[in-house]
Amino acid sequence: MDIVGLFPTWYEPGVGSAWVVGIMSTVHVLFSHTSVGAAVFFMALATIAYRQNKPELLEFVKRYGLFLLVFSYILGSITGPGIWFSTTVASPRGISALIHSFVWKWATEWVFFMIEVVGVYAVVYMVGKVDQRTHLRMTIILGLAAYATMLIILGILSFMMWPGKPEWFVEGGYLNGFYGANTFAQLAMRTMFMFAITAVVGSIVTAGFTDIEFRRRMNRWLAAIGIVGVVAGGALFQWYLNTLPNYAHLVMENRLPVWFAPSLYATLGGMLVYFVAMLITPRLITTLVAVTATISMLVFGLWPEEVARESMRKPFVAGQYVYSNQVIARDVPGLGIKSELPVLEDKGILKTHIFIPDRLRQVTPENKIEVGQTLATILCTNCHSLTNTGVRPMARYFGGNQNVSEIKRYLLGALATGNTLYMPQIPLKDDEAEALAAYLAQLGGAH
Ligand code: HEC
Repeated sequence: MDIVGLFPTWYEPGVGSAWVVGIMSTVHVLFSHTSVGAAVFFMALATIAYRQNKPELLEFVKRYGLFLLVFSYILGSITGPGIWFSTTVASPRGISALIHSFVWKWATEWVFFMIEVVGVYAVVYMVGKVDQRTHLRMTIILGLAAYATMLIILGILSFMMWPGKPEWFVEGGYLNGFYGANTFAQLAMRTMFMFAITAVVGSIVTAGFTDIEFRRRMNRWLAAIGIVGVVAGGALFQWYLNTLPNYAHLVMENRLPVWFAPSLYATLGGMLVYFVAMLITPRLITTLVAVTATISMLVFGLWPEEVARESMRKPFVAGQYVYSNQVIARDVPGLGIKSELPVLEDKGILKTHIFIPDRLRQVTPENKIEVGQTLATILCTNCHSLTNTGVRPMARYFGGNQNVSEIKRYLLGALATGNTLYMPQIPLKDDEAEALAAYLAQLGGAH
């Protein structure tokens, strides 16, 4: 018997599994970028502090480090495994693709991450307790280890979008998968934005300083790296866009919410204004203002950025061979992987998916709607919610159409042949299309 090794689908009716992963990742980006950015910044501050004898800089490193221990290292360590848990159920084959390609990379990243965690404790609690050279070395080790985690994760993120080199599909090999045109542009851009994020979050720390002169001086440092970060990051963003394949540009132009690009640019502009305010009127930056700025950056900057990145690799979730709905859609001889589309075209999903209950394998007038719902859950819910909320609600996309044969024609026309730009090819046998259409028609009627 031919089988398609799909896992059971995790269906989250409220927001959709994709948004659970998205929300978790966006928050994680804030924490992880702040901790890496701050660690690199600490490295520079500690060097200046010891070379030019400016102990107040160390005081700042200590205060910011302590804040990070709660803000980044605890909340970051909750959302990090949160991403693992949610992606494992939302996209088991996507995460499996990454693990099979990069298990040693990830293990290496963990080593650096452990150094980073121990390092931040050491840097915060050893100020003044060990000699200067030792403390400076600790700070440098922290900065380098933190940046190394970013370097490694970035290769994996770029691979999720596009395997580095086309040869990877044939030859495999992690370097082929890891390094592509996209990797370094993304690394450079993220490094700069990371400093901007570090500066905004840092203003929460400085807002707590009662000594206004100290606050002013530290805000100047933060504003300086923030302005450099935004300006250089904005320029590097153009480079990054140039490394994207045409396909990604098409998706961006046609399929992203219209408010995304203005929101991203407005966020960058807003951050510049904020940094200038930090430079000239440090009193204005109270804890409330700083927290509001951080949350705005998260919602209006990082969320569209993460969603855009996720959308550009559609219809794939990883490595341009695993579809978002988990079906493998391309031969990858380098990994000994075969596309499942031919089997689906030949036998249909009802006969080949292991976890379909036997009573639903054959479409009958009685079970038609239930089969349709099962098919929709398996094939569509990674990208469309079946309720009125969450990610791309399905009913909305059919515009309330209740005509079963029209819907069926669409399914067999556009979807089954892969004739949409951003959706997977979803082969359906005639009775499967009929059942799915019946379910979708009834969904349209319900709203
Ligand atoms: C890989 C993710 C993904 C999967 C899986 C997916 N879709 Fe879509 N679908 C999209 C995207 C992205 C759009 C475009 C959204 C937009 O422009 O707002 C879309 C749009 C649509 C539209 C609007 C018409 C069109 O062609 O643009 C319909 C209808 C639709 N999907 C039906 C389905 C059905 C039915 C399934 C399951 C059999 C499905 N989709 C599976 C991502 C997906």
